[in-house]
Amino acid sequence: VTSTPGYGPWVQLDVATAVPYLVGRGLITAGTAQLLEGGVSATVVAVDTPGGRVVVKQALPQLRVAQTWLADPRRSGVEAAALQLLHGLTPGQVPSLIDHDPDNHIVVLEAAPAGWRTWKAELLDGGGDGVAGGLGTILAHWHRATAGLDEPRFTDLTGFTEQRIDPYFRTVQGVHPSIAPAVDRVLDVMLGRPDCLVHGDFSPKNVLVGDGRLWVLDFEIAHVGDSAFDLAFLLSHLLLKQIHLGRPDEHHLPFLDAYRSAGGMPIDERHLLGLLGCLLLARVDGKSPAEYLNEPQRDQTRQRALAILGGDITTLEQAWRQT
Ligand SMILES: Nc1ncnc2c1ncn2[C@@H]1O[C@H](COP(=O)(O)OP(=O)(O)O)[C@@H](O)[C@H]1O
Ligand SMILES: [Mg+2]
Repeated sequence: VTSTPGYGPWVQLDVATAVPYLVGRGLITAGTAQLLEGGVSATVVAVDTPGGRVVVKQALPQLRVAQTWLADPRRSGVEAAALQLLHGLTPGQVPSLIDHDPDNHIVVLEAAPAGWRTWKAELLDGGGDGVAGGLGTILAHWHRATAGLDEPRFTDLTGFTEQRIDPYFRTVQGVHPSIAPAVDRVLDVMLGRPDCLVHGDFSPKNVLVGDGRLWVLDFEIAHVGDSAFDLAFLLSHLLLKQIHLGRPDEHHLPFLDAYRSAGGMPIDERHLLGLLGCLLLARVDGKSPAEYLNEPQRDQTRQRALAILGGDITTLEQAWRQT
């Protein structure tokens, strides 16, 4: 146990500490631990126990990216609360929360069945069909069911500011002063629309798929905000993959169609497009660059984003058209 200034006692979660930690919490009597790769904002360890597999996740105070990026680890409390709320709405689509330890910023979750993969991995392999529609339906349900939510834990925008507004929007404004006013206009609209509970990290990396089912993960940035943010976030990932794979994306239209037909929030296409422009630019010139793009693909992404924010692209359809 070490101490992190301001955040109290600190068990540093890793492969060696995970099992003694869970035993100490009274959750298991024995197990074997394995580090799960993939997260930049947390340490995630899978533990196999006689009673099955669990996942232990500790929020890090400093994110694992090239640039300095600090984020309050108390976001694990947001994750625990959002997991419970959304598991209650769609129990088959979200892992159940087994434990939350606010002193150590740790959540313990039910683990996905063996063999499930991230949708990101499937998309990068050129697969991942049949998932987008399900995601649109789930998101519509969450947004509708949480419309008007007014819980202090979720209306506090500290986490969203630290993890999205500053590293994505503000950082690209610094790199591209010419479109800074356009980004400000998008931010003004976004911050003026506290519609519902927004996931905040609704990306293919946070979707696990297997056995014809899917789970959504990673609720640390959940907040009451603009429903369009979740749509734009997923769309930005799908457009990046189109650019990377060099062939038309077949997932964004089924996603949007399912969101609409499942009764999601109304979509303001111009605003959604503006958010998409900001998020695309953030994935090349912000603090969390997409690792799979090469230099020509990064440049293509940058040009597409600047065309959106500069007003040369005015519809989603144009944004998706191959150039
Ligand atoms: N309940 C779970 N079952 C199986 N794998 C999981 C589970 N939770 C997380 N993972 C794996 O760990 C990765 C990182 O977890 P995530 O919650 O997304 O953390 P981060 O905030 O660091 O991205 C996920 O992409 C997934 O591969
Ligand atoms: Mg994640």
